[in-house]
Amino acid sequence: MRQKIVAGNWKMNGSLADNEALLKEVVAGTEGLSGVVCCSPYPYLFQLQGLLEGTHVAWGAQNLSQYEKGAYTGEVSASMLKDFGCSYVIIGHSERRTIFGETSMTVAEKFKAAQEAGLIPILCVGETLAEREAGITEAVVGEQIDAVIGYSGVEALNSAVIAYEPVWAIGTGKTATPEQAQDVHRHLRERIALMDSDVAGKVPILYGGSVKAANAAELFGMPDIDGGLIGGASLVSRDFCDICRAMG
Ligand code: PGA
Repeated sequence: MRQKIVAGNWKMNGSLADNEALLKEVVAGTEGLSGVVCCSPYPYLFQLQGLLEGTHVAWGAQNLSQYEKGAYTGEVSASMLKDFGCSYVIIGHSERRTIFGETSMTVAEKFKAAQEAGLIPILCVGETLAEREAGITEAVVGEQIDAVIGYSGVEALNSAVIAYEPVWAIGTGKTATPEQAQDVHRHLRERIALMDSDVAGKVPILYGGSVKAANAAELFGMPDIDGGLIGGASLVSRDFCDICRAMG
């Protein structure tokens, strides 16, 4: 049995007051579940640590520097995230790749930096609408995953999470059908299995892109979908708790 995970990606949203209310409701509303994660903007990690330590809810960041320390103005290192009790960090989200120019190589370096500090990377992969329509979805996600495997080795996926997020489904309200998502998840697992079937069988692969309370159970019911990475709906406690409960 693979670990199921539902991770909230708050993106650049939140305030001390809103977060406090949200986190208290998430803790109460997901009692008894494991695999619940909230990923906040950096300044709020101290607040998450204060409110979530000792609860069943884990927390993490949405990015990190590939460098350890030093003259990198504006950057945040993996060891700093550890200081604030993070277990997870999202790596290579499509917004990082497209808006902030992160290449597959940068993503591979960040993945390694996260693991070296003992954080669990949530590695995002996904194709754009143009790439899907051109029939190159598998090649695109394959290149994204291969860059990380080439840099860290396939066994690195033993302590990582993958999130398949079709770019055309992120924040658009347009969810991949369970079958469309399953096809890509299966492809990713088969691709990894060519290198190591044991690792492939164990690595959780989450789906992300307009997951809502209404479609979560159907998506999470697919054989290779092990939970979700949730953007917009992770900011609404009732929706997020309902999605967490859909892990079953
Ligand atoms: P969404 O975002 O759920 O708002 O589509 C998902 C994500 O970007 O991780």
